[in-house]
Amino acid sequence: MFTHTDLAKMQAQSLRMQGAIRKQTYSPEMEKTLRRFSSWEVGELIFKVNQSTLRGRLAADPSLPQGQVEEDGRQRWYSLEEINQIRRRLKVNRQSLMPPRPAGKRAIRAAIANFKGGAGKSTVALHFAHAAALDGYRVLCVDFDPQATLSHSMGLSDVDEEFTVWGVMARDLIQQTEAMNATTAQGAESGTTLPQRRLPSAITDMGLADLRVTDFIKPTSWPTIDILPSCANAAFVEFASAQYRHLNPEWSFFAAVSRYLDQLPADAYDMIIFDCPPAIGYQSMNAVFAADVLYIPSGPGYWEYDSTTSFIGQLSEALEDLARFKQGVPAGTMSLPKAFADVRFLLTRFEPNNELHRAMQSAFVKVFEDRVTEHPIEMTRAVEQSGRFLSSIYEIDYRDMTRETWRRARASFDQAYAEFRGNLLAAWDGLE
Ligand SMILES: Nc1ncnc2c1ncn2[C@@H]1O[C@H](COP(=O)(O)OP(=O)(O)O)[C@@H](O)[C@H]1O
Ligand SMILES: [Mg+2]
Repeated sequence: MFTHTDLAKMQAQSLRMQGAIRKQTYSPEMEKTLRRFSSWEVGELIFKVNQSTLRGRLAADPSLPQGQVEEDGRQRWYSLEEINQIRRRLKVNRQSLMPPRPAGKRAIRAAIANFKGGAGKSTVALHFAHAAALDGYRVLCVDFDPQATLSHSMGLSDVDEEFTVWGVMARDLIQQTEAMNATTAQGAESGTTLPQRRLPSAITDMGLADLRVTDFIKPTSWPTIDILPSCANAAFVEFASAQYRHLNPEWSFFAAVSRYLDQLPADAYDMIIFDCPPAIGYQSMNAVFAADVLYIPSGPGYWEYDSTTSFIGQLSEALEDLARFKQGVPAGTMSLPKAFADVRFLLTRFEPNNELHRAMQSAFVKVFEDRVTEHPIEMTRAVEQSGRFLSSIYEIDYRDMTRETWRRARASFDQAYAEFRGNLLAAWDGLE
């Protein structure tokens, strides 16, 4: 017979192994850094202008960043900072190189969600974030998954749980409870006596109320990508939140992250991308509630289709359930029921020559119609082999692998991103 003690023993054993592997594969000096991009990439893939035109323009104006020449001597290589500086200063054929952004609006928020593990959520989130940054956007990622794949992939492996979505939620509970108590106190003056809600000192004494909005946001190796990271200890959020709801049943727990993001300056970021955990719970409900657009990645197999179907069923029920908060909420602060500006299904790990995959794609289109994206993300060895911590195709130097494999993988992610950007821009225009 096996009790929790046996499970704890197994875990301890596994942790020892994990520690040993980490020591072998990670050293603090091995911090993630972003590579430079060649003039070929900057011209054809990033700005989408003729390479020799760009070279000519850069040569004509020595005050523009000139990149670095590497050993092989033929090309110049530019950092993302340099690329962004060129983007701001150069017009090609009278066209700005800046990406479109509706004026005066806050950042657009997209959740990559599905409760199937291995659906490709983190891979999609990582690639869309990198593609958007290369496109000139300022990106914030929010990692809602305590497995922290996205945080690790972005180089954050040493995160305190108070600086995760869990911290954001606990801080929100404190702020919301204080606000409710203040209104109750006002009500008491006018004669009605309502009890004050008390939170235990274990929550109020953590100092979370003193954290500023930006304390939760960490830089990454990409200069225009920040992240609100996660860590294994944040798994605790699912237990803690149940207790918090009990302490203050009127607390709209699902809106904590949305309220948090509302406190960021409108122009601090352009796109906010959420990587979701493989379950419906407090964290994933916060993610979908804060999202303007929902992207649902799914593998191309029958079981994945099955579990995507049950995901949308459960999500629908969970969202319907929130309607009961409608009474307690002050008018104008949030709108219920939750409405997404767009919902899309995105096939991942797709093999165009695999008959079964093509059949599943037809089935998806038959059922979900125009909600299925036109461009699936192809299965690629480039991503598969990038190791325990994902590196995106954008981070991998094309000289380090077969050029054709790199090109093909990049083209697949580029097409999916272009479609994602189009969908976000349409949703963005409709934002209030
Ligand atoms: N397009 C792809 N080609 C090859 N492997 C992929 C692709 N997308 C995801 N994978 C692999 O599948 C596994 C699960 O992907 P991941 O993005 O972590 O899924 P999730 O976040 O949904 O759990 C990872 O090992 C990843 O490297
Ligand atoms: Mg993941």
